[in-house]
This record gives sequence, structure tokens and C-alpha cells, in this order.
Amino acid sequence: SAPLRTHAAAKGKFIGTALATGPLGSETTYRTIAGSEFNQITAENAMKWESTEPSQGQFTFSGADQIVNFATQNNQQVHGHTLVWHQQTPGWVQGLGATAMRSAMQNHIAQVVGHYADNPAVVSWDVVNEVFDENGGWRSSFWYNTLGQSFVADAFRAARAADPDARLCINDYNVEGINAKSTAMYNLVSSLRQQGVPVDCVGFQSHLAIQYGFPSDMQQNMQRFAALGVQVRVTELDVRMQTPRDSSKDATQATYYRNVVNACLAVTACAGVTIWGFTDKHSWVPDTFPNEGFALPWDANYQQKPAYTAVHDALAGG
Ligand code: G3I
Repeated sequence: SAPLRTHAAAKGKFIGTALATGPLGSETTYRTIAGSEFNQITAENAMKWESTEPSQGQFTFSGADQIVNFATQNNQQVHGHTLVWHQQTPGWVQGLGATAMRSAMQNHIAQVVGHYADNPAVVSWDVVNEVFDENGGWRSSFWYNTLGQSFVADAFRAARAADPDARLCINDYNVEGINAKSTAMYNLVSSLRQQGVPVDCVGFQSHLAIQYGFPSDMQQNMQRFAALGVQVRVTELDVRMQTPRDSSKDATQATYYRNVVNACLAVTACAGVTIWGFTDKHSWVPDTFPNEGFALPWDANYQQKPAYTAVHDALAGG
């Protein structure tokens, strides 16, 4: 039957995946599935600061270009990830004083966004990532601790200046349902837009786990952001489980995938859903959560799981 991207396109949505440069260069099956099933690509790591500007003023785009070229060959759009984050950012940035740090941030954005500004494949960016903590306060990152919350508005303004046509997003995890963290995000986006700061889009990462339950108010939460006038999107979907994997957990996982796709389909302002990888062979989950994994729609042998059928049928349905 038709690939995911055919059904998503018929609904006016994207269906995306995150790609890693290693398997993209070495595994035929990885390339075949990535190129045929999805119509939007995010670089899992290759566009992050440590990859694109490891030393101050020394920009390297080899991994990022590898992914953008793959997307272009396969008629896929690229979502840039991510410009300003507290992880995977070199030590030289973290040690700067306020004036130098703001300048370094603005230069990084100008160079990285500028590198792709004339490339029609690259259409959007995660400008800032994960600025809140779980109770809705500002995360105590080197960005916030050095610059205060002004770094967020400055980052969006720099990105707009570097590419006036790119869609600019703020992105976070554990903001899928209505809770203290998502309400902090809501209040920030509302305030920034009232000040004329160019925030176009809110990304809900959606790193879910079957043992924690599904955020049943996800559609309602996306709808309240849409009412602010922003686009919304699911940016990093995966649904992990505790080992061992079994058919009952697979079935529960499939319902989570279906629920996320259906929430996006039900919200006009939701542009699409990106899955954080696609095969259990290449997933961040087991490296981060001991005794958890199996979070993606294809297994480690590239066989489709019930989660694949759930995404497919949700996109094809209705
Ligand atoms: O490239 C080095 C390699 O040279 C080295 O041998 C190896 C040994 O540890 O590490 C490799 O780097 C790893 C990198 O992924 C590339 O594989 C890092 O250790 C590892 O920490 C890094 O993990 C990434 C993680 O972000 C780091 O923050 C994951 O792949 C990536 O999936 C994950 O993605 C994040 C999103 O960007 C933001 N939202 C949360 C999401 C999941 O954590």
C-alpha cells in the first residue's frame, strides 16, 4: 500500500523523520525507507552547534549538507534543528560573558540560517529549544544564567533577519498536554508575539512512554496554541516502553502513535508529525533510559511494527 508520505500529503500534512549521518552513509535499507516513507527531514544531530561551529567562527556543514542533499534528492523538506540549546553546544560558548555570548549567538544564527536561506528544501527552524523546566520556570541554562530571558527574543530576531521566509519555531518536551510547563510556553509565545517577536510555530517534541500514559488533552493543548496564531507541529515523536518488548506493549504503543497523528489531523494549524528516527536499530532511547527502548515504528531489522500500521491507517483514514 502507499507510503506514509502519500497519505499525509493528501491530508495537507507532513510526515517526517530524524536522520543520522552514520546510517545514512552506510545502510541501503535505512536510505530506502527514509527516502520513500517521509516527506520532511530533521537532522538528529548534524545541525547542532557542536557540529556546525565547533570552534568559534569555524563553520562546518558537511553532515548537515549530507542530510539536506539526501532530502533534496528525495523531494523532502528540511526542518532545521536546532540553533540555541543548552546541550551539544561547545564549551567555548558556555564560557563567554554576556556581551560576547549574545554576539556569538547572533553570529551563529546568521551563519547557519544564512547557509540555507536560499535553499528551497530548508523551510523552518527550531530557533530555541527546551527553555523551561518541568514546573514552568526558566531552565537554569548557561543561556538564561548569562543573558536572562532576552536571549529568546534576540535569537528569533536574528533568525528572521537571516532568512525572512523561514518558519521559526520554539520547541520543547513534556508540553504535549496542558500542564505547568506547556502553560509557561503558552504565556511566553503569547507575550513574544504581542511584542512583535517573530515566533511562527510551536513544536511539541512528544517523547512519550507507554508506562506514563497518553496526554489525552493533546489536541486541546495544540488548539489553544493555534488560537495564538501560531502553527503547531509534532517534532520528535517516539513512544518508548520498558523491556522486554511484547505484543501487548506494541499494541499500546500503536494507540499512542495513532492518537498523536489523529490529534494533528484534527487541528488545522498542525502542519505535521515528525518521528524521532524510524527504526529501533538507531534510537537515542536505550542510550538514555536503561531498560527502555523499542520506541519507533520499525524494529531493529527494519520490519514494520503495529505502530507503523497505526500511523499509516490514521493518515489514510477519514
Ligand atoms: O558523535 C559521537 C561519537 O564520536 C562518539 O564516539 C559517541 C560516544 O558516546 O558519541 C557520539 O555522539 C553522540 C551523538 O548523539 C551522536 O550519536 C552523543 O554521545 C550523544 O549524547 C548524542 O545524543 C543525542 C542527544 O540528542 C544529545 O543531546 C541523540 O542522538 C539525539 O537523538 C538527541 O536528540 C534530542 C533532540 O536534539 C532535542 N530533544 C530531545 C532529543 C532526545 O534527547
